Parts: sequence; structure tokens; C-alpha cells
Amino acid sequence: MKRIFSGIKPTGHLTLGNYLGAVRRWVEVDQHQADALFSIVDLHALTVEHDPARVTRLSRQAATLLLAAGLDPERCTVFVQSQVDEHARLSYLLECVATDGEMRRMIQYKEKSVRAREAGQSVRLSLLTYPVLMAADILAYGTDEVPVGEDQTQHVELARDLAVRFNQRYGQVFAVPRATHPKVAARVMDLQDPTSKMGKSHENTGGIVYLLDDADVVRRKIMRAVTDSGREVVYDRAAAPGLANLLDLLAAATGEDQAGLAASYDSYGALKKDTAEAVVELLRPVRERHAEFAADPGQLDRVLRLGAERARGMARPVVDRAYRAMGLLPAV
Ligand code: AMP
Ligand code: TRP
Repeated sequence: MKRIFSGIKPTGHLTLGNYLGAVRRWVEVDQHQADALFSIVDLHALTVEHDPARVTRLSRQAATLLLAAGLDPERCTVFVQSQVDEHARLSYLLECVATDGEMRRMIQYKEKSVRAREAGQSVRLSLLTYPVLMAADILAYGTDEVPVGEDQTQHVELARDLAVRFNQRYGQVFAVPRATHPKVAARVMDLQDPTSKMGKSHENTGGIVYLLDDADVVRRKIMRAVTDSGREVVYDRAAAPGLANLLDLLAAATGEDQAGLAASYDSYGALKKDTAEAVVELLRPVRERHAEFAADPGQLDRVLRLGAERARGMARPVVDRAYRAMGLLPAV
């Protein structure tokens, strides 16, 4: 059976971008057609300045939201990365396969390191090596497919390169993974700045729809979305990115196609109103189920404990094989 792995960082509240770019497909498609693992990748949250108590809180919240969105622990494995040692064990081996040039070419590193320096913060070494840890997350499970938003393409490419290089040098150990993306809304843009992606930790939260925002807050954010200066409703990501983003959201929520939707509107106001309502309805069941799951923290603990056990059982033999292939003396 096909193996699928994906992860989400507990660095902020989950957004509509996370949902449409990744989580919705994990729920609707991936957990049904494969042996799938979904991880709260908390080690990755330590690559930038962080408040420990907040990371703990956000990890629980993210796990609760994944269950509320419909991941079924009977069908797939939901777990917290730091509870499975194999990720860190394998990451070091892969650091001995990757090069520093490869790391410095990563777009996300370039962007985030500039931002940290501008804010007067030092850049953590782990921010540079982060894509290697991500490759370890993926390769430890013999993963075939990695369902992610488009922003992760370059990282998954690196995981592929490292798998191929390792196998050539040390013998066949790893499956070579590939990224998969949703057909629409693979890159949801910030409503206030439609040329940059909707990210969890932007300073101006007016352009970000969080999964747990109240319906009225969601409506207000979408009604205030920055649109373009023309008057016609057209679907053109380059010339009219604000409109295109709204059309992507409406298309993702209704299953219709963007060009057809564009043709059926003659005002921005009506498009915004329908998009707002469609998004509110899309998120309503997730919010309602989140409240139910949050009321029973014991259940979450049980799911995560079992998930980590299962994940360990899968990763351990692969990582042990990699240790031996690289010449490390097996423990007896
Ligand atoms: P992160 O929040 O960076 O851990 O991302 C978790 C998943 O959500 C990854 O698969 C991302 O590619 C996806 N994702 C995050 N933001 C967006 C966005 N604005 N549009 C589409 N996908 C996104
Ligand atoms: N880097 C991913 C992000 O920022 C999160 C992530 C970490 C991930 N490890 C992963 C995604 C493994 C897929 C597979 O969104």
C-alpha cells in the first residue's frame, strides 16, 4: 500500500491556507487511499524565536484541529514529531549526505533569515538545517507521497535528492518521495497582501483567516480583502491577484472552476459576499467539532500516545537500516 506522510508546524494558529493547501486533502483523500501519517512537527517550531509554553499549547491545538477536521485515528496515524526519536536520529545522518550549498539555496531560508536579521535577531543554525530534518521526517517512513501546499515543493525536492544520493552511496534504503498538491488553492494568499502567502505568523492578522475565527470575523476579513483597481471580475493571477485569490477560495469551497465563477459576477462586492459565506460554511463543522474534542483532552492524549507508538514501529527499522548502511556499528 502507498505510504503518505505530511506535517504541520505548531508556530501559530492554523489558517485557511493550511486547510485548503493541505489538511482538507489529508482528510478527504489521503487517509482513505493510503497508509498515511500526519505529524505535528514541533521540532520545526524551535527554528525561530519561540515561547515554550505557546509551542506546547499550539501543538495540542493543532492536533485537536486535525481530528476536528476529520482525520480518523482508526484510519491514519496522528502523532507529535518530538515523541518519536527516529526523526532526530535520521536527521543527523542526512546532514552527512546534504551539502551546505544546498541548504543556503533554500528559498524559505533566504527569506526567513533576512527577516530575522532585519528584526535584530540572530539566525538559528537549525533554520539552515531545517530542510534536512524535514527530509528525515519523510524518509524515515518509506514515504511515497507528500501532500503539501506549493510553498513546500523545494523542500520535498531536497528530500528526493537526499534519498537518491544516499541510496547510490550506501545501498538501497529509502523510497524516493514526491510532492502532491491540491488542484485549487495550493497557494492561498494573504487577503491584505495578495502577492504573499497567507502564513500563520504574519504581523498584520487582518489578511489571515484562522480556522477558529468566529464567523463574523471571517466575514469581515473577506469583505475587507484588498482587490485590484479594475472593475471587471476576471481570473488572472498576475494582473489581478486579489481577485484571483478570492476566486480560488470560492472555487475551493464550492467545487466550481474559477473562470466560470468570474464570468458569473459583475461586481467585486457580490463576489466577496459569496466567498465570505462559502468560507464560513466550509469552516463551520470544523469549528463545531473542535469545541467537542477540546472538551475531552484525555482522548487527545490517548490518540497521540498510540500514534507515536505506531510511528516508532514504522520508522525504527528504516532508520536502523540507514545506520548500518553508513557503517555505524550495530548495538548488540
Ligand atoms: P506550515 O503551517 O508551514 O507548517 O504548513 C503546513 C501545510 O500547510 C504545508 O503543507 C503547507 O504547504 C500548507 N500551507 C501553509 N500555508 C499555505 C497557504 N497559504 N496556501 C496553501 N498551503 C499552505
Ligand atoms: N516544512 C513544512 C512546512 O513548513 C512542515 C513539515 C515538516 C513537513 N516536516 C514535514 C511537511 C514533512 C511535509 C512532510 O509547512
